[in-house]
Amino acid sequence: MKGVILAGGTGTRLRPLTSMLNKHLLPVGRYPMIYYAIDKLRLAGVTDILLVTNKQSAPLYVQFLGSGKEWGVKITYKIQDQAGGIADALELAESFVHPGEKLIVLLGDNLFEDSLAGCVKEFEQQSEGARVFLKQVDDPRRFGVPVMNGDLIERIEEKPKEPKSSYCVTGIYMYDEMVFDMIRAIEPSARGELEITDVNNLYATKGLLTYSILNGWWIDAGTFPSLYEATDRLRNYSGDPT
Ligand code: DAU
Repeated sequence: MKGVILAGGTGTRLRPLTSMLNKHLLPVGRYPMIYYAIDKLRLAGVTDILLVTNKQSAPLYVQFLGSGKEWGVKITYKIQDQAGGIADALELAESFVHPGEKLIVLLGDNLFEDSLAGCVKEFEQQSEGARVFLKQVDDPRRFGVPVMNGDLIERIEEKPKEPKSSYCVTGIYMYDEMVFDMIRAIEPSARGELEITDVNNLYATKGLLTYSILNGWWIDAGTFPSLYEATDRLRNYSGDPT
């Protein structure tokens, strides 16, 4: 399985810090935020990783991560020229993923406690489809919210005013190679972005969207309060890359 970490975007909710530094390079405990996504993939046995970021920050990522060797992984870099949405960033992974291969995608600002190792193994065995990871949250209106039906997700509503459940769809996704056809099939949303929720909803329409529920803590560190919470959670984290 290939790993893809998305670290583009504009980070508007963390301005002015992000007016000069990409969100995923902000410090969280002893490391820049990006480190934790890389570590989660490595610990799940996913060591071939594509990092998508913007052109302003790419040199800093290369400076910190290099080839990935020091961190126990192999990193390939791609540049997203404009923040055209999560699915737009993911489309850049097409040539990185070989035919028949599956991929796990992490949004670089999602920090979490659970191990991904078991789900990666399980998804490798699954013949087709996509899987998202859910977490129960206090305010689902800030996120994609799933409508579940048994083991499947029927649809996801992006930042709904009246959420139909108390779960949110986190920024942890697993896909088969069909994901790139799905991205080509969607249109930009009202805010002009290619939305990952539209991609996931295409899988849902075909009855191919399953889910796992995270047990441990999960944080979307894209706002100041959640960035502080992430720092509290991870202040004593000491990775051991090799
Ligand atoms: O964190 C989970 C949520 O992430 C989900 O519940 C939502 O369904 C999903 O749409 C997304 O919502 P956000 O509003 O939090 O997305 P945001 O624009 O903050 O982008 C999240 C990550 O994706 C961020 O780490 C950077 C990356 N990204 C984003 C955009 C728009 C890119 O790499 N390129 C982009 O163009």
